[in-house]
Amino acid sequence: MIASENCSAKSPADIRIEILTADHLPAVMAIERASFRDPWTMTSFRDLMIQMRTNWTAFADECVAGYLITQWVLDEIHILNIAVSGNYHRRGIASGLMRFLQDSGRERNMQAIFLEVRVSNEAAIAFYKQFGFSVLSTRKKYYQDGENALVMCNHLTERAGKNADGETSCSV
Ligand SMILES: CC(C)(COP(=O)(O)OP(=O)(O)OC[C@H]1O[C@@H](n2cnc3c(N)ncnc32)[C@H](O)[C@@H]1OP(=O)(O)O)[C@@H](O)C(=O)NCCC(=O)NCCS
Repeated sequence: MIASENCSAKSPADIRIEILTADHLPAVMAIERASFRDPWTMTSFRDLMIQMRTNWTAFADECVAGYLITQWVLDEIHILNIAVSGNYHRRGIASGLMRFLQDSGRERNMQAIFLEVRVSNEAAIAFYKQFGFSVLSTRKKYYQDGENALVMCNHLTERAGKNADGETSCSV
């Protein structure tokens, strides 16, 4: 396994997805620190890994290229964290992780995926919309620095996406 800062991608990456393990954490933490102004700590990752096995690492060219942290509660999936190394942006890494999550969720009869995203994070919002997410609501001052979050959701089944009038909607 090679740390992401020593990797570069020249063409669309073939990705391999594995359950996130402690071995991946140093490379994951490097991506986390480079990606967010309020990065998670190593302890946060370790705590979530102990609680759940719904966290995955994406490898490209044997390098840790990105990761996805989720929580599955009843029939809902919550994306808690997703990031891709800058060396691999726009190479389909996050898309591979999202397709994997959507397929896994449908296989296990999950109804919807939810997440929060900073209103200023245009790249992530564009990415989520590409995968069928829509805006459900705004959470005021959700982040420590006072920025608002958009709550976005993606229905995994036809049934979950219909309201009482049979229209497609994003409210549950
Ligand atoms: C958002 C993020 C995870 C996307 O990862 P990625 O691997 O680069 O995304 P993909 O290559 O799979 O992109 C798929 C599509 O999403 C959209 N997209 C991704 N990045 C985008 C950007 N910077 N601007 C506009 N659209 C973007 C595009 O439609 C893209 O398809 P295209 O490249 O064919 O145009 C990545 O930018 C990242 O790690 N950002 C920092 C961490 C972060 O903000 N995480 C989200 C927290 S809520």
